[in-house]
Amino acid sequence: MQHIKQYVDEHRQRLLDELFALLRFPSVSADPKYKTDVLNTADHVAQKLRDAGADNVEVCQTAGYPIVYGEKIINAAKPTVLVYGHYDVQPADPIELWHTPPFEPTVRDGKIYARGACDDKGQFYMHVKAFELMMQTDTLPCNIKFMIEGEEEVGSSNLSIFVKANKEKLKADVVLISDTSMISMEHPSLETGLRGLSYVEVEVTGPNRDLHSGVYGGAVANPITILSKMIAAMHDENNHITIPGFYDEVIELTPAERTALNNAPYDEAEYKKDLDVVELWGEKGYSTFERTGTRPTLEVNGIWGGYIGEGAKTVLPSKAHAKISMRLVPNQTFEQITEMFTKHFLSIAPANVKVKITPHHGGEPVVTPTDGIAYKAAQKAIAESFGKEPIPTRGGGSIPIVALFEAELGLKTVLMGFGLDSDALHSPNEKYDIFNYYKGIETIPLFHKYFAELSEA
Ligand code: BES
Ligand code: MN
Ligand code: MN
Repeated sequence: MQHIKQYVDEHRQRLLDELFALLRFPSVSADPKYKTDVLNTADHVAQKLRDAGADNVEVCQTAGYPIVYGEKIINAAKPTVLVYGHYDVQPADPIELWHTPPFEPTVRDGKIYARGACDDKGQFYMHVKAFELMMQTDTLPCNIKFMIEGEEEVGSSNLSIFVKANKEKLKADVVLISDTSMISMEHPSLETGLRGLSYVEVEVTGPNRDLHSGVYGGAVANPITILSKMIAAMHDENNHITIPGFYDEVIELTPAERTALNNAPYDEAEYKKDLDVVELWGEKGYSTFERTGTRPTLEVNGIWGGYIGEGAKTVLPSKAHAKISMRLVPNQTFEQITEMFTKHFLSIAPANVKVKITPHHGGEPVVTPTDGIAYKAAQKAIAESFGKEPIPTRGGGSIPIVALFEAELGLKTVLMGFGLDSDALHSPNEKYDIFNYYKGIETIPLFHKYFAELSEA
């Protein structure tokens, strides 16, 4: 532990400067406008892996953005950790809500503000720097492989092809990911599951053209009104989702599991205050952590139609649109839920509109084991660096590729995230605490150490 602290102390400023350099790349995978920037980010990450001491570094081309691969094999008899992360980020919009530019990292109050600061540049880069530390101090105790992709925020579809085609190259004993949250630095935690996702877009069409709302209003169904009613009908008075069969496959937690989850520290007043809401909302009969970690949900991510420009325009629009996503839990499957949604949404559409549903990407839910040596290694690493045992939690977000690692490579994952839910992922003013960044760099080598030790035992 002493050599770790010493290394981080000696290189403190450079470690931060390098993260800043990475954050300056606007690697927005969703927007083609940033194509060159995303490609440049991949090259930059590859160079940083080489500089840190990785061998066989490659920028692997795909039908979309490349996957950066690198490895250090010290001894074929030692275990291998596959580190996964993503160098792409979400769009920065709405840009006007940022207090400082999203791609010019700025420190305020000990926190780095930038798009990708936490999700996931700040977090995957800790692994690159922890690897550098282990190389420089001659303490790398196991083999390590890096796979940093550029399409996580748009569904990882090319990564799934890459994984299926490169099983030998990706051979490992465990996947290690820092792309999730902790409860807080005072209450370190490890996520033991991720929700799945089904994402659909709906289009509701009324009349064949936009109409004068005075001439036709009252006689023709307004698709925005109809869509709003259909959306409102997706939850009942207990905030249960009304799609028939939606909960059929959901595994209910045992009372013991529920108690364990609800033992995690939670301050409802603080939670509400942080979000400026007077009251929370959710499925009746479940606590906040249960609702976000163990129960499926349906959210409208966007809704539009009609006139949204300056001033007023009296129009009865022809079309209304919405993007709707559902978070899934074991044993729901993405395909099944998408089909159920589609069937149900079509069935509740009145005859005065036409409804078109287009599925987007999705992913399966996962639960990661807490009884294996990899989880134990993460527990020990966190306990040592934080001075406290980590609390197991269930994450509400999704990393769809994790289920595929298990299905295609037979690999379990450890979710050792150092972010906070309040880090404003995907929101304006995303941030990452400098403290967490260094803490991550200090904790990761301990994971490798304990994983190697426990593998030999
Ligand atoms: N890192 C997040 C997922 C996450 C965040 C998990 C916090 C747990 C806690 C990831 O980059 C992400 O945003 N995933 C998307 C899904 C993807 C298919 C766009 C998500 O969860 O919405
Ligand atoms: Mn992420
Ligand atoms: Mn994300």
